[in-house]
Amino acid sequence: MDGNGRWANRRGLPRNEGHRKGVENVEKIVEKAGELGIRYLTLYAFSAENWKRPKAEVNALMGLLESFLKKQRKQLLKQKIRLHTIGRVEELPTSVFKLLNKVKADTSHFEDNHLILALNYGARNEVLDAVERYTAAIQSGTELQEGELQWETFSNYLDTSGIPDPEIVIRTSGEQRISNFLLMQSAYSEYLFSPVCWPDFGPDLLEEALLEYRNRERRFGKTGAQIEQEKLLSTKSSS
Ligand code: IPE
Ligand code: MG
Repeated sequence: MDGNGRWANRRGLPRNEGHRKGVENVEKIVEKAGELGIRYLTLYAFSAENWKRPKAEVNALMGLLESFLKKQRKQLLKQKIRLHTIGRVEELPTSVFKLLNKVKADTSHFEDNHLILALNYGARNEVLDAVERYTAAIQSGTELQEGELQWETFSNYLDTSGIPDPEIVIRTSGEQRISNFLLMQSAYSEYLFSPVCWPDFGPDLLEEALLEYRNRERRFGKTGAQIEQEKLLSTKSSS
């Protein structure tokens, strides 16, 4: 979700106004994702590097996060959406951390739809944390070392354990870089870069993005002919 600051600057407004508009858009996008049948929606809300911003902006972002969670709690319960977080959330202000845990616990019985907030998240930190957790599990004997380490085993120690890899990753505001987001999990994701700043990336644009995704051919290292063949076989077996 990039471009809140530029959205505000272009209108002669303070950056925080852009963030406030950005949160409004999050609420709309969460609702739309449910309607579109997106079962897992991950939002990169605060990166591990965002602490470097001016203190007043960091504080404003934390305040917005807190009010968003208070408001969104009811909405998540209504829409039967389970909240998850990825990132080092224990380093967030205590009030935010506690509220996150509360909303996660309150929605933990929902299985179908999931909202994942990336907070104080960075893919490199995540890999380091996973290595530490994996090593600890080996040492304590909860994980058995059988032959060569497989990605399927190691990925259980990432923050995203239990959450499927993203099919599509969208970055708004025209920047064409990944900025330490889900580097491992997006190995085969389709990337979509939109020039629109996040506050204006509304539900209709999300729907359009899904249409574009549908027209892309995901080959996972295979040839186009193989994929066509597989499609043919799967339509044959399902009819
Ligand atoms: C939102 O946009 C990013 C966060 C949620 C922290 P930015 O604040 O990065 O907006 P720009 O890049 O300055 O326009
Ligand atoms: Mg930015």
